[in-house]
Amino acid sequence: MMRSKRPARKSDIIANMHSELDLSLSAPSPLHGESGLPGDKSLSHRAALFAALAEGESVIDGFLVSGVTRVMLNALTNLGAEWSLDKHRLTVRGKGLAGFASPSDPINCGNSATTIRMLAGAIAATGKAATLDGSDGLRKRPMDRVLIPLANMGARIESVNGCAPLKLTARTAALPLRPIDYDLPVASAQVKSCLILAALAAAGTSEIREPGPSRDHTERMLKAMGADIRENAPRSLRVSPLIRPLSPLRCTLPGDISSAAFPMVAAAIVPGSSILLREVGVNPTRTGLLEVLAAMGAELKIINKRFVAGEPAADILLNAKPLKAVSVGGETVVRMIDEFPAMAIAACFADGVTEVRDAEELRYKETDRISVLCKELRALGVSVEERQDGFRITGGTISGGTCHARGDHRLAMSLALAGLASPAPVVVRDAAILNESFPAFLPTLRSLGVRTNQTGTVFAEQKT
Ligand code: S3P
Repeated sequence: MMRSKRPARKSDIIANMHSELDLSLSAPSPLHGESGLPGDKSLSHRAALFAALAEGESVIDGFLVSGVTRVMLNALTNLGAEWSLDKHRLTVRGKGLAGFASPSDPINCGNSATTIRMLAGAIAATGKAATLDGSDGLRKRPMDRVLIPLANMGARIESVNGCAPLKLTARTAALPLRPIDYDLPVASAQVKSCLILAALAAAGTSEIREPGPSRDHTERMLKAMGADIRENAPRSLRVSPLIRPLSPLRCTLPGDISSAAFPMVAAAIVPGSSILLREVGVNPTRTGLLEVLAAMGAELKIINKRFVAGEPAADILLNAKPLKAVSVGGETVVRMIDEFPAMAIAACFADGVTEVRDAEELRYKETDRISVLCKELRALGVSVEERQDGFRITGGTISGGTCHARGDHRLAMSLALAGLASPAPVVVRDAAILNESFPAFLPTLRSLGVRTNQTGTVFAEQKT
């Protein structure tokens, strides 16, 4: 077993600067207008990494520049990749799997589980040595879900009780990874992507099955780059080893539906609102929140459907209507796994008791999103009941007050939305963590008519 004391890094200093913002939102009138959204976070992570694994120059427009994607870019620098960023255009000069270096210092994955889990698979595929580490929060998140199958494939990785830091040992070409035949215990796109990447360098064809419909961006993007990945049955993938290098990418990424969730919920809870969000990714593995908001009574129209970067995209029109409680569980959960904090705010303003079940996976996100969400909502007066696999929220019980982002970007943004319709103001302490995924959160809401009151700095707003 490996132990290590994490040295202070530049990103820690940035994180401390982030923690200074106290945020409060209000809606002097209903939300109106149109807005675009920053590029999708999941697609940005994948595009950067896969472009580095390809051979040749990739040009990716609409790249999300945020805390967690910067962490991925810095990690790629450590691994010897060359890239440049011009506003939201990322250019990567990929050198193929063999072009990766073995960095001597640990790679800092910050708060990004997508970065550490996908890199674990990619580095295992390259056969290089590297240590993957991250923030104290990331060090608490479960990595055994990737460590166990990667070890079955022959990768040698040490961890600290199944958590980061992860130390991968170099392998010689004479010892290729073994193909895997594996049933994922949880529906997780991060785990699936990690194993697909490792399978690209295995000595035969791998079979990977998942229990639910997790996002399929990795399969779509790698196939477009020339990888042989087939769905041989629903939720069952057959991945062949690469016989030629991945081709570079040329694409424009669609807007992030997980960021669109915030203006959508904002408009849904402020009576009389009507907004249009342009070019949002509507991959069916990500659209659970649209179905849930529609079931709650919001008027939603998905228009101008098209394909952007091989992904379904559309414009979303939302008109506020009185909201009613719903029950969410089953397969919908994984298709809106990041949207529960925002959806919980809609539930606070719905008529009746909203119930979420089958969502225990939320306990393993940036925070334990069941217990932390319930605690912070209670601080705002909301009547909420915590369950092992979800929660129950009684609509109409919110009063307002002060709550805390608890180091979770989605919690920061969601709790702030509550102030748009609560009887008394809502102040979210330490809200600048929102820069991890959506640095344009405040300008986007302001463009739709939201008033923002902030004490402290939003670090990334001036930068991107
Ligand atoms: C992601 C997958 C999801 C999601 C995360 C991004 C991805 O995590 O919560 O924000 O880009 O693959 P899990 O795979 O752990 O469910």
